[in-house]
Amino acid sequence: MLSEFLLAEMSRLSAHNELPLHRQLYEALRRAMLGGQLDAGERIPSSRELATDLRLSRNTVVAALSQLTVEGYLSSHVGSGTYVNDNVPRGPAAAAPGFTGQSAQLSQRGAALSNTFCARTLEIQPFTGGIADFSAFPTTLWQRLQNKHWRMSYPDMLDYSSSGGYAPLRRVVADYLRVFRSVQLDTDQVIITSGTQQSLELCAQLLADHGSTVWVEDPAYWGAVKAFMATGLKLHGVRVDEQGIAPEPLDEATAPRLIYVTPSHQYPTGAVMSLARRHQLLDTARRHQAWILEDDYDSEFRFSGPPLSSLQGLDSDARVLYMGSFSKVLYPGLKLGYLVVPQQLVTAFKEAHYDLNRPGQLPLQAALAEFIEMGHFSSALRRARQSYAERRRCLLEALKPCLGSRAQISGAEQGLHLCLRLPSGVDDAALAARIGQLGMVVRPLSAYCVERQDVKGLVIGYGYATLSEIERLGPRLAGAIRSEAQRLGI
Ligand SMILES: Cc1ncc(COP(=O)(O)O)c(C=O)c1O
Repeated sequence: MLSEFLLAEMSRLSAHNELPLHRQLYEALRRAMLGGQLDAGERIPSSRELATDLRLSRNTVVAALSQLTVEGYLSSHVGSGTYVNDNVPRGPAAAAPGFTGQSAQLSQRGAALSNTFCARTLEIQPFTGGIADFSAFPTTLWQRLQNKHWRMSYPDMLDYSSSGGYAPLRRVVADYLRVFRSVQLDTDQVIITSGTQQSLELCAQLLADHGSTVWVEDPAYWGAVKAFMATGLKLHGVRVDEQGIAPEPLDEATAPRLIYVTPSHQYPTGAVMSLARRHQLLDTARRHQAWILEDDYDSEFRFSGPPLSSLQGLDSDARVLYMGSFSKVLYPGLKLGYLVVPQQLVTAFKEAHYDLNRPGQLPLQAALAEFIEMGHFSSALRRARQSYAERRRCLLEALKPCLGSRAQISGAEQGLHLCLRLPSGVDDAALAARIGQLGMVVRPLSAYCVERQDVKGLVIGYGYATLSEIERLGPRLAGAIRSEAQRLGI
């Protein structure tokens, strides 16, 4: 009997890791399909029947079914129900790692990691959130600079880098951050990393112990959540409102060792942390003797209002570690970012970075330093800013017919994505799934939630789609949102 199988699988899953109920049901249904308990073409019970049989809320069931639909396991046909797709693999091959046998082979941590917000669900499509358009990158110039630095490279440039990265690159990064982001720093506080992910891991490895608590914004950047899970930290989601992270007295009872924030443009809601909140957060960190990790991932793209200063720039207590990345302005595969650590941590961080990560790529770092010194970075940024501003304007215009008192846009002043906020009772996963069936990928805001369940909406990117794509697809997206919203009674 299907419900017995699902209940047994869910209880097995909950014994091994702390998955939310909708992820447990998602995984149990997936196993039922891959293991043959549900056949191709078979109709699965309705969300109402499943909710009754499994004693779950209907929202939980709908969230699981929507995810399976987005990922291509299920198809729903209006009026006739939901069916298992024909192309779902099954049998021993499907049960290999990556499918049903996965939890038997992976550690508990590995299973938990593979069960939360997977990159495979982040297919890059015109409206995928936060993705830049790297097609504009000046590849010929870049190739010339790389060739030049490869020709000039001394043997020691081919070694690991023990000093936190190529010195001229650290210097230009420090100059940029001092002037444009009001970061307080000397060049030796800059460590070049392979991007924000590595910066976060280093902070977790060096500043927290296994089982230490990290406060993350709720909803949160999934990459940070994964970095903390992978380093064995305990996640505590702190609600975000329109002024950024908003710790309440109840949160204070779970004392943090680390606090991860995106103050310039909260990911994904887009809230800008107010000055009052910034000072409160610095006080909170001081009281708990905690470190703040400031991820300034897209501050280069601010479209209205004065440039915002960093939180690190307000810190008089050396508690903020500031990090940024070249992924958005240049291209993600470059895999270069930077971490600014307080003076008293410089030696420990450089030594640990060397020991744990064996950093290198000095000729690449040299090419990047020259790219910045020669003004190419500023021109790439200027061009990108202008182009993203046009795409953003075009998307905002296209979305106008969807807006009203129950559907509003947040976070469009900066970055490469915006949020269409919807009332808390809306099933945003079902809405995103339906839009997905119409060939456009947007993410439900609830997918980024750590603990709370009241934040609903759609995260819509405008960085990757060209202006003409937005002109063509924007009205179609708005039409789909409107008709689905009407159908779902939003
Ligand atoms: C919130 C946030 N931080 C950081 C990054 C960049 O990370 P990385 O440097 O690891 O590419 C991204 C990229 O999407 C992001 O959305």
